[in-house]
Amino acid sequence: MTTSTIRIDERTRVLVLTGAGISAESGIPTFRGADGLWENHPIEKVASMRGFVDDPILVWRFYSQRRADAKAVAPNAGHHALARLEERLGDRFLLATQNVDGLHTKAGNARVVEMHGTLWKTRCSRCDREPFDDEEVYLGDLPGCGACAKRGESALLRPHIVWFGERLDPRDLARIDAFVRASRGSRLVFLAVGTSGRVSPASELVVHARDAGAETWLVNLEPSDNQGAFEHVVHGASGAVLPSLFV
Ligand code: OAD
Repeated sequence: MTTSTIRIDERTRVLVLTGAGISAESGIPTFRGADGLWENHPIEKVASMRGFVDDPILVWRFYSQRRADAKAVAPNAGHHALARLEERLGDRFLLATQNVDGLHTKAGNARVVEMHGTLWKTRCSRCDREPFDDEEVYLGDLPGCGACAKRGESALLRPHIVWFGERLDPRDLARIDAFVRASRGSRLVFLAVGTSGRVSPASELVVHARDAGAETWLVNLEPSDNQGAFEHVVHGASGAVLPSLFV
């Protein structure tokens, strides 16, 4: 374990990857481990197309509850530290998050790639209309797609979340890749925060960044599955570590 700091200068570019751990101190449960979301809600039932087809009411109740939970909480010191870092770096900063709670944006980050989608958008389960802003909770009546209805078809709306078995939006991956490629000739720092390193492709970003010459850092409460891939590992809570990590 190292407890040193990350020196930021005018040549430094920072790619951050966050996971559920960064929102834990705001009161949002993580996925794995004791009391994790996946302990009480079987993934295949609430986070797959198969589950949605079988029981859309259950799935919408799950995401409606997560909308309500996320709306009730505020960003913590870890989120704020990343917002300050973006203010400092501007276009030399990119934040890829696996989180769908919107707390990074609430904290003030603008250069954010929401790799796993967002709780705050809904899309059609059938047609390719653009995902749209939606904060509604659906507890009983299921929302239908108005665009499909106009064509005389019937389709349910679904949360704009990447479910298991689904592909990430290639545009999101391309944006991350472009940031890494644009870092040639500068000093690239890759920092992962609050993620167990169990879900690909997010868990592979460290290797991608390292191959591009990045200095790699992990801030996590417990050892992550891929921590061997990082040069610097800080075990601690992100809300305690991040505010004094960048100098
Ligand atoms: P996990 O629940 O798998 O891991 C959370 C990690 O955060 C664990 O390693 C904890 O040790 C760490 N942690 C907890 N509290 C922390 C704190 N205060 N500070 C720092 N670290 C802390 O969550 P993710 O890695 O984000 O995907 O999970 C990845 C994906 O798996 C999620 O985006 C979700 C899930 O299935 C989808 O739903 C598509």
